[in-house]
Amino acid sequence: MGELTLPGLIDAHVHLREPGATHKEGVYTGTAAALAGGVLGILDMPNNTPPTVDRATLSRKLEMFRQKAVSDYSLFLGFDGRNVAPLSELGGQVAGLKLYLDETFGDMTTREPRMLAEVFATWLGPGPIAIHAESPSIRVALELARRYGQRLHVCHVPDPDDLLAIETARQAGVAVTCEVTPHHLFLSDEAVARLGAYARMKPPLVAPRQVALYWERLSLVDAIASDHAPHTREEKDSANPPPGVPGLETTLPLLLAAVDEGRLTLERMVELTYHGPLRIYGLAAPVDSAVEVDLLERYALPAKGYRTKCGWSPFAGQRAVGRVRRVRLRGQVVWEDGELRVSAGYGRELGRVGGR
Ligand code: DOR
Ligand code: ZN
Ligand code: ZN
Repeated sequence: MGELTLPGLIDAHVHLREPGATHKEGVYTGTAAALAGGVLGILDMPNNTPPTVDRATLSRKLEMFRQKAVSDYSLFLGFDGRNVAPLSELGGQVAGLKLYLDETFGDMTTREPRMLAEVFATWLGPGPIAIHAESPSIRVALELARRYGQRLHVCHVPDPDDLLAIETARQAGVAVTCEVTPHHLFLSDEAVARLGAYARMKPPLVAPRQVALYWERLSLVDAIASDHAPHTREEKDSANPPPGVPGLETTLPLLLAAVDEGRLTLERMVELTYHGPLRIYGLAAPVDSAVEVDLLERYALPAKGYRTKCGWSPFAGQRAVGRVRRVRLRGQVVWEDGELRVSAGYGRELGRVGGR
């Protein structure tokens, strides 16, 4: 029995770089890479140039996705420390609010305690506040979420001990969810010696001992999201390489290899990559959709041949199981045997549970 039918993945954390950096990726190339990876829908981050932080930048980005996306999508609103008004006006048009509590690619860090309190007081949802945060800032955000009764989502949990802090807060009644990336599950900081800048991202890779703890504590995790953050080879080879790695096309075969090895069940994989992300953001699954995978394919992930515009992967050489044969999205075959079957604009905004 080599054919496996899955509901497909929803990747709740990607950077498709448009507008502002389409030499790295764009809406069309990024959503095509999503389909190639069995990802039906992506949630796109706001650290663009210009950042997605107000009505004008959000409307322009939504229109661009309407014209160019081939997978489904939802966008994040960001906050760049300036204008809190959009936080009470635009929540209905986005998956959630993305807050950067620590430095990363882009210039959106907000740290000032009074400003943070104002953001937590102002956001009206319905989606959660999703944070990029190092461990000390996660504690700050958990306290703010408690104080203001906000739903909090911790992106790419930087340390397995943070999973324990998040669980403690959850037990105390804070509405908090979290995600872990495939690179924190399938690579350790030992990869940095081998790959240099190609294994550098924020938050950084951790020691093998901590990687084992992520796996041990996977029951505390709500979603696995790629943090697909493409940069060109030229940029990675430069004197000042930006942090980030692509991941849309490698999450599924890596996780299927882990299922094959008995490290998690198939049911749990589907929970972490499909039901979990939808539930966190209150989004509705696309109807009449599925991903067919050929499970007999066992191989090492290649160094090239990806759909992502950046063309490389930090996972090259890793054990993989399964190849995406066919993707059906809202009743139509959109991807089959390595070919895109729909044109730009087929993608739709993911609906909200209960209507948008
Ligand atoms: O490594 C990263 N790259 N971490 C982030 O938080 C941002 C991302 C990017 O946009 O390149
Ligand atoms: Zn981040
Ligand atoms: Zn990110």
